[in-house]
Amino acid sequence: MPRVIIYSSFVLLLLLAVPPAIVAKIRSTPSEGRPIHIVQDMDYQSKFKTQTPNPLFADDRAMRQPVPGAVARGEVFDDPHFHEGTLDDGSWASEFPARIDVDLEFVERGKQRFGIYCAVCHGDAGYGDGIVNERAMTLMANADGPLQGTAWVQPKSVHAPEVAAQPVGQIFHSISKGIRNMAGYEAQIATEDRWAIVAYVRALQLSQNAPAGLRAEATR
Ligand code: HEC
Repeated sequence: MPRVIIYSSFVLLLLLAVPPAIVAKIRSTPSEGRPIHIVQDMDYQSKFKTQTPNPLFADDRAMRQPVPGAVARGEVFDDPHFHEGTLDDGSWASEFPARIDVDLEFVERGKQRFGIYCAVCHGDAGYGDGIVNERAMTLMANADGPLQGTAWVQPKSVHAPEVAAQPVGQIFHSISKGIRNMAGYEAQIATEDRWAIVAYVRALQLSQNAPAGLRAEATR
């Protein structure tokens, strides 16, 4: 084979390495410019971004203000009894809100929601002995375990006298906003369902400390 062919194919081979080297260099170097973008579609177009000025409007803002008096759907808190568990004077409500019918179906809904959201910590019967508590206790007992040096606050029993004595509004508030080490659940559980859970907590409390004669009264 003539030498010139050998040399030129060697040079050609080296030249072939140049484009990938350039691509690799560009890809690994930060740049202020836009990436090369061959198919544009609608990726770049003139628009107003949030928090930028827009001379089209009298107040020069691109972001428009809500129409005066506008209220986001589902955000009207016109009933403190229903939404906060408090009466007009700020005290805890001891009755369920007027718009709620506490019947068997409602308590059963509460039982189901309690099973989903509360029983993991508080246990099925509300004694504060749920599976999460059991697990934490096991970890705490193991001195070298991952919980070493931290403290576990046991979920409170809903049958503790100071909880059993609470008005429904206060229990509703604890569920909604959280209490001390317990987080609030108003973001996860709809308002009416939180009341259903309160009804079920009441049912649990009655079931564990039922006075003699209650049955006769309830079935009358
Ligand atoms: C992640 C675990 C956990 C879950 C889930 C949980 N709780 Fe709690 N709860 C706690 C702990 C812990 C406390 C005690 C907090 C403290 O004393 O610092 C507590 C306290 C309470 C109390 C006592 C309030 C008081 O005044 O002392 C009530 C009532 C209660 N929880 C109800 C509920 C209900 C109803 C649910 C379900 C919507 C629920 N909890 C879900 C952990 C939990």
